[in-house]
Amino acid sequence: MSKQNVYDNQELFDNYARLREKKENANLLIEMPAILSLFPNLEGKTVLDLGCGQGDHCFQFVSLGAKKVVGIDISEKMIKLARTINAHEKITYQKIAMEDIKSLNEQFDIIASSLAFHYVKDLSLLLIDLHQLLKENGFLLFSQEHPLATTFDDSHVTRWEKDNRGNKISARVRDYCREGKRLTKWFDVEIIKYHRTFATIVNELVDTGFMIERVVEPVPDEDIMERYPEYRDNYLRPDFLIIKAKKISWDKLSKSSLKENDYKKTI
Ligand SMILES: C[S@@+](CC[C@H](N)C(=O)[O-])C[C@H]1O[C@@H](n2cnc3c(N)ncnc32)[C@H](O)[C@@H]1O
Repeated sequence: MSKQNVYDNQELFDNYARLREKKENANLLIEMPAILSLFPNLEGKTVLDLGCGQGDHCFQFVSLGAKKVVGIDISEKMIKLARTINAHEKITYQKIAMEDIKSLNEQFDIIASSLAFHYVKDLSLLLIDLHQLLKENGFLLFSQEHPLATTFDDSHVTRWEKDNRGNKISARVRDYCREGKRLTKWFDVEIIKYHRTFATIVNELVDTGFMIERVVEPVPDEDIMERYPEYRDNYLRPDFLIIKAKKISWDKLSKSSLKENDYKKTI
């Protein structure tokens, strides 16, 4: 199975919604501020948000001046929720899987995605499609679970080394260089994630015709750690990886590094 729709599972959906309602969640405190700091000026821009979930980011893009936002997600429930709580005349929500994204017949200034790429089995194919969907000089800005986190599955004993009081003292790493499927349980629901090393992610981007402008492994600031000490473990091992990359046109790239031929084979 290469397309997975776990967020339509009622138990996972309800628990995830509860998590997102909390104002102290890691997305709001750590991941989103880092992502937003990398966005170019959105005034008058068109944005595609992949795995948009409940649409919080889509709404934010409009608030920052985007003239049109398309949010796509594989989950019917997420799209329904987004249409309810983050509706706006400039936003369209569509139930589409990232794997089928080339069915969108238009180009965007910016493609964004928050914490969804690790659910995609074939990053290379996805990036080829995204390259096509971006306008010249457009940006791809995405976050995913950090490769030091995706490397785990539930067969591992524990992710953390702890002292005798139960405090985390270091993060364990295992099978980092073995890429591929990982099975984990979240709220008792089985989920498949795909682990790729940092090098693979970077090289896939470069080989597809993206120039990497920034890489961020965000950590909470002093103020957040004071208020929410549980996030100190981000200093032992980052939870998130964020990459900002710019589309380079195929005709401007050296023939050797291109996947243009791969792309042509898929159409
Ligand atoms: C962790 S949530 C993040 C939601 C949103 N980006 C945010 O940060 O608020 C991951 C989202 O990715 C969606 N997703 C997972 N796999 C997908 C796929 N193959 N195609 C499209 N969406 C997918 C899920 O349904 C879910 O809404």
